[in-house]
Amino acid sequence: MRKLKLGVMISGSGSNLQVLIDACSQKGYPAQITVVISNRPDAKGLERAKNAGIEAICIDHTAYDDRASFEDAIHNCLNEYCVELVCLAGFMRILNADFVNRWKDRMINIHPSLLPSYKGLHTHARAIEDGVRFGGCTIHFVRPEMDDGPIIMQAAVPISETETEDSLAAKILRYEHEMYPAAVRLIAEGKVRVSARKCVFKDVDLDTAGLINPAIN
Ligand code: GRF
Repeated sequence: MRKLKLGVMISGSGSNLQVLIDACSQKGYPAQITVVISNRPDAKGLERAKNAGIEAICIDHTAYDDRASFEDAIHNCLNEYCVELVCLAGFMRILNADFVNRWKDRMINIHPSLLPSYKGLHTHARAIEDGVRFGGCTIHFVRPEMDDGPIIMQAAVPISETETEDSLAAKILRYEHEMYPAAVRLIAEGKVRVSARKCVFKDVDLDTAGLINPAIN
């Protein structure tokens, strides 16, 4: 079975990386991780990758004179490992348009809000502050604008009356973990592609009653 080659980019804990590692270890899953890149040497996710026998590389942004040379190093590394799809999973550096365009429609991100609401940081606290009824998370193709791009999958998570930033983050993270492997599978199986500003789907149910759309089988 041909497997889509993934490069996962992280800056921290890497719990989303972990669910991708676990999915990829399953027989029949249509993707494999060829490299994990962190911009921070102390990222726990680097350990997770090493424990799974995956190449774990630190490209420390502080070692580069400017963003362009840092991003060139990442680009070269991704190519060296024959990466076909870049998965941003808690990668906390802004990426220049140049880099983003080189990976256009070949790079996805997970963001802890229902985009296009709550781009940027502190999404959960801002949602609670505003009294919105749902928080959530989004997986999308990456575009040069921050947290912008064709949406692949979203989950909506109800916000309770006693919700705190931490409790909401924990609830949403569970859905992130369900969605990331499922979204990568859709791409690997050729069931989603970008058309203009949107994703279009093939053989995917987009009209289910649940709170994850498309539904995960
Ligand atoms: C997640 O909440 C993700 O949505 C955001 O960064 C966090 C990464 O968490 N982009 P982890 O490192 O995968 O545990």
